Amino acid sequence: MKKILDWNRYIEKAVQTVSEGIVMLINRNGALPLSKNEEVAVFGRIQLHYYKSGTGSGGMVNVSKVTGIVDGLRESGVPVNEELYSVYEKWDEKNPFDPGEGWGTEPWSQKEMPLEDEFVERIAAQCKTAVVIIGRTAGEEQDNREEDGAFFLSETERDMIRKVRKAFPKMIVLLNTGGIMNTLFIEENEPDALLYVWQGGMTGGTGTARVLTGEVSPSGKLTDTAAFKIADYPAAEYFGDKERNFYAEDIYVGYRYFETFAKEKVHFPFGYGLSYTTFDVKVNGTSSKAYRDYSEYTSVFDITVKNTGNYSGKEVVQIYCEAPQGKLGKSLRVLCGFKKTKKLRPGEEERFTIEVPLSEAASYDDSGVTGHRSCFVLEAGEYKFYAGTDVRSAKPVSSVTLENTEVIKKLSQCVAPVLPFKRMRPELQNDGTYKVVFEDVPLLEADENKKRLDNLPPEIPYTGDRGIKLKDVRNRSRTMDEFIAQLSDNDLACIIRGEGMGSPKVTAGTASAFGGVTDSLKDFGIPCGCCADGPSGMRLDCGIKAFSLPNGTMIASTFNPELVTELFEFTGYEMAENKVDCLLGPGMNIHRHPLNGRNFEYFSEDPYLTGIMACAELEGLHRSGSEGTIKHFCGNNQETGRLVIDSVISERALREIYLKGFEMVIKNTGARTVMTTYGSLNGLWTAGHYDLDTSVLRNEWGFEGMVMTDWWADINERGEKQCKNNFAAMARAQNDVYMVCSDSADHDDNTLSSLADGTLTRAELQRNAANICRFLMNTNAMKRLEGTYEKTEIINRPEEDEGSDAPVVFYELENEIEIPFENVKTDKGCIYCYELTITTPGAFEAEITASSKNSETAQIPVTYFCNGTVCATYTFNGTGGKYVSEVRSVNMYSRFNTVRFYFGQSGLDIKSIRYRLVKPFERRHD
Ligand code: BGC
Repeated sequence: MKKILDWNRYIEKAVQTVSEGIVMLINRNGALPLSKNEEVAVFGRIQLHYYKSGTGSGGMVNVSKVTGIVDGLRESGVPVNEELYSVYEKWDEKNPFDPGEGWGTEPWSQKEMPLEDEFVERIAAQCKTAVVIIGRTAGEEQDNREEDGAFFLSETERDMIRKVRKAFPKMIVLLNTGGIMNTLFIEENEPDALLYVWQGGMTGGTGTARVLTGEVSPSGKLTDTAAFKIADYPAAEYFGDKERNFYAEDIYVGYRYFETFAKEKVHFPFGYGLSYTTFDVKVNGTSSKAYRDYSEYTSVFDITVKNTGNYSGKEVVQIYCEAPQGKLGKSLRVLCGFKKTKKLRPGEEERFTIEVPLSEAASYDDSGVTGHRSCFVLEAGEYKFYAGTDVRSAKPVSSVTLENTEVIKKLSQCVAPVLPFKRMRPELQNDGTYKVVFEDVPLLEADENKKRLDNLPPEIPYTGDRGIKLKDVRNRSRTMDEFIAQLSDNDLACIIRGEGMGSPKVTAGTASAFGGVTDSLKDFGIPCGCCADGPSGMRLDCGIKAFSLPNGTMIASTFNPELVTELFEFTGYEMAENKVDCLLGPGMNIHRHPLNGRNFEYFSEDPYLTGIMACAELEGLHRSGSEGTIKHFCGNNQETGRLVIDSVISERALREIYLKGFEMVIKNTGARTVMTTYGSLNGLWTAGHYDLDTSVLRNEWGFEGMVMTDWWADINERGEKQCKNNFAAMARAQNDVYMVCSDSADHDDNTLSSLADGTLTRAELQRNAANICRFLMNTNAMKRLEGTYEKTEIINRPEEDEGSDAPVVFYELENEIEIPFENVKTDKGCIYCYELTITTPGAFEAEITASSKNSETAQIPVTYFCNGTVCATYTFNGTGGKYVSEVRSVNMYSRFNTVRFYFGQSGLDIKSIRYRLVKPFERRHD
């Protein structure tokens, strides 16, 4: 059957995700939904610059159009006050949006337009409802800050809220943010409604308008606890340290901490979110399923939800468990099941069951205090279950009592810390509450190097080329061992080198090429696979347009995994058509602290919800034959010092919080690629962490796929300084591919020298090669190589979103080159792209020669992007038809550079661009 990707259905699914992910915190006196024909006055400059996502690798999806909130309102027929809108437009022209300069420098918020009382009152005389939009970006390379204009409102924003509140009978505040921010000031000003509309991708405004107009009742739920103050979060004391971060709060992350120790510090609880309608949630009874032992024991909750209000809507029923404190100490609540209802009409009800395996409430004993060291245990005592619509209001429904402590899973010590520190645990007080006390964290005793040596794989004797191709392995006519036996030492050294960014061997503008990266490897029939960021749509730095999806936090706030799977099935087809084999996402680190810059890409403070959402995305990608990469494995929970920071985490917290989501994905969806982090976990950089990448991931969880580093990550050996070329340590740990090298055939690493001195075995490299090939032989890259890939027909996609079929031109630049721009379309909104392979990274002069017949005062801006980041802007005026030259300085760090021009106005005739090397860099980034 022919595969069809209907763009309209894709858009509809994304819009639905947005409207189900919006979280309504306040709605006084039915302020929302807007009534028919209710004119709204929209305040806040972000109405002109809707944040579709944060910045950095997770936000660089090129789109032809973003539907912002005002567009969405207009589409829905809501009258928008035009006088106010045009004042913002004019001000915005004079005060352009500041995108920052280079990578990771966009300010967390933009300067806001100051307002005068009289002006606001004049607008209020025209309409009664104000919608105030507050916007925040988020992103890689920097964390959010506890400052005005970041976690707090700026003074101009506060002034806007005050003035609008004073003048308007109805004030609705929308937070177009990557994650939670401080809302106290807004609440002091008594908004009639307050909603997190998050960052909803390119169709965000349409989904938002559906909620505002009541076409859809909000049903999103907070995936994080909103506390009153940053200092209230248990990680606050440690977060942000540039060198080392002690995870002293241990398993007490987010609501696990607040519900156990500090209920009063919670402003909005985890799982909270209002609807336009009301629901009655009734647990009809709890039964258990047949089981052989407690590792299989499952409670089945029989639930009826009835819509008791006046609007149609969906509700999310959440089940929490309170395990007995036992000897380990427990959090008073742990999310272990949830379900979203279908859309219920007023008066309608739905009956369903939620199954909760008791093992979801098991704890990992890393000290042996229960008598079962290194085991997941269910300690003896009563397990109480609570059902409700957020963690705080969930009511007790049933309980299970265990006479004895039950061992659920026997494991062995892995990834434990080497530095002594103390961690939190609860101590019961006379009044029945729990106080924080601290205990020593058990330290690493197992020797990971000995583990490695005891488990070395057998070497496959080298045979040389016997004509066996990778497809013979896939067709099962040959074994993987027979295939791998043919690879020489040099082939093995090359296959662990991913190439990029922007390698000419794969789709232009993507993050990496891997597998068949040399002629010799290609000759064995190994395809060259290709990865692109991720997570919220495809990042194609050559400017090709792609679908930009809602951010991770918004996706998780839907609490609707089925919907997310459907959405990502479309993404998978889109990837396949763009020859992208592997999305660099989902990002699934834990929201340990609200200021983490990349929280927007990740889902939640809760590992169970994180695991479910990542599974949902992968399942969607798999349905369409594409693949995702779960990242960043693991403990990537702050951006400050991310390349060097050592995260010091107990084995218990790792297994219950930071590894749990990854484990769920690997066991439940068969994920086949994993990306490690930039930083170090308990003294070892994750890219060379044997216990993490082999003992846990493969030996315990059964992962058989490929592990890649983060881009230009460091690697080390225990006690040694980290560096970028210790590929031997990486390969030994079974982190199979280094991302990225500028030339896979020739790279300065220690693979061959380590083979020669015996510190790396040939067998280990063969194992890496097999992991890579096992992954690749089931991808679309393999099908393309064999000519068996079946095209998906894309229908209903607007012409401006379609990629061009013209091949991207590759140029080589040594010291100087002139690139002609003949026949390049430079009309407003057009882009032009080429790939530049340079011999010497450095600072270059880039001189554009162009002419224009426009007037002398015409401004014709041309933006120059290199690998997705703005490097320079040229502004030409009318030249009376004569050629003039403008020079800018551009830095190019990598060997491969995807250069893209964006033309902001029509009327330019560009003759050429000339590059000249001015100063080579001393150290290459790659
Ligand atoms: C990010 C990764 C990303 C990679 C490739 C890194 O900076 O940490 O998440 O996938 O770049 O763009």
